[in-house]
Amino acid sequence: MEIKEQIKIETDHIYQKVSKHIPEVEWAFHAPLIHKINKLKKEKNAVVLAHNYQTPEIFYGIADIAADSLALAVEAEKTSADIIVMCGVHFMAETAKLMNPNKKVLLPDMGAGCSLASSITGKDVRMLKEKYPGVPVVTYVNTSAEVKAESDVCCTSANAVKVVESLGVDKVIFLPDHYLANYVQKNTKVKIISWQGTCIVHEKFTGKEVEDIRKENPDIKVIAHPECPPDVISASDFAGSTSNMVKYVKEKQPKKVLLVTECSMSDNVQIENPNVQFIKPCNLCPHMKKITLNKIYDCLKNETNEIKIGHNIAAMARKSVQRMAAIGR
Ligand code: 13P
Ligand code: SF4
Repeated sequence: MEIKEQIKIETDHIYQKVSKHIPEVEWAFHAPLIHKINKLKKEKNAVVLAHNYQTPEIFYGIADIAADSLALAVEAEKTSADIIVMCGVHFMAETAKLMNPNKKVLLPDMGAGCSLASSITGKDVRMLKEKYPGVPVVTYVNTSAEVKAESDVCCTSANAVKVVESLGVDKVIFLPDHYLANYVQKNTKVKIISWQGTCIVHEKFTGKEVEDIRKENPDIKVIAHPECPPDVISASDFAGSTSNMVKYVKEKQPKKVLLVTECSMSDNVQIENPNVQFIKPCNLCPHMKKITLNKIYDCLKNETNEIKIGHNIAAMARKSVQRMAAIGR
């Protein structure tokens, strides 16, 4: 069979799914890469994990698991593949490596960082521990392995309140997202000591913007990520991790919805929920968008951009992530 025909057979069903979001001219570039990546995955026994913010050609074209950051960490531990390609940002690839240290973990672009992860260092955490002796440190997974190593337990936005309450204490240091800390504080009696980190994507939304959209769309349901500022959360019908946002739309099938988060989320969720109308003021995460099919193909083919973590930091950071995984959702 001619290669062109083979690509068509293998990718046409994917294009049927994503065609409303990807023009045909663009698909002509994506399809051969999707074919080559899926072939390489089989040859190398590799698995592609993708975050919900990845673009539809990655999310629907090559991902074996597409999910929120908690599920990606758990899946990374379970996989029997030899290579994990993380289509997400650096802290997600590091977390996968911590969960499965004997696997080769590749990140298609080493520059895919996160404003939250770069808002705090291990030294900052040591300084906080000195300032609040004996107070446990709960750290969002959106941090470096060095910061996780200084922490007692990690959390994601899917389980932050549960993790804080699992400690059975009356005060915790919660790092580094100030807005997530604020959200947790509203949902627990445990006193939260926070840090000033923010997500450059979610901090841009405002409550006023949400209210204006509601005025124009009185029947709309507004769902926000807990990294949003407090006035956005108060103006929303529901707040939850990216997977909880997906679940809300899938189960409730609102007529009209606004997902207050990264842009690709709405595209990916809309594809699975054709009867829901999506209003789309959204912000792009420049880090997530660094991951492209071309870079994924190159890094898997040449096995470049491998995540390495020093032995001592890895051992300490792993404990915090595993403790979180044991607590679950
Ligand atoms: P989730 O844990 O909800 O998937 O979010 C990760 C993230 O980076 C949000 O900006
Ligand atoms: Fe980090 Fe925000 Fe991008 Fe998520 S969306 S990876 S928190 S910068």
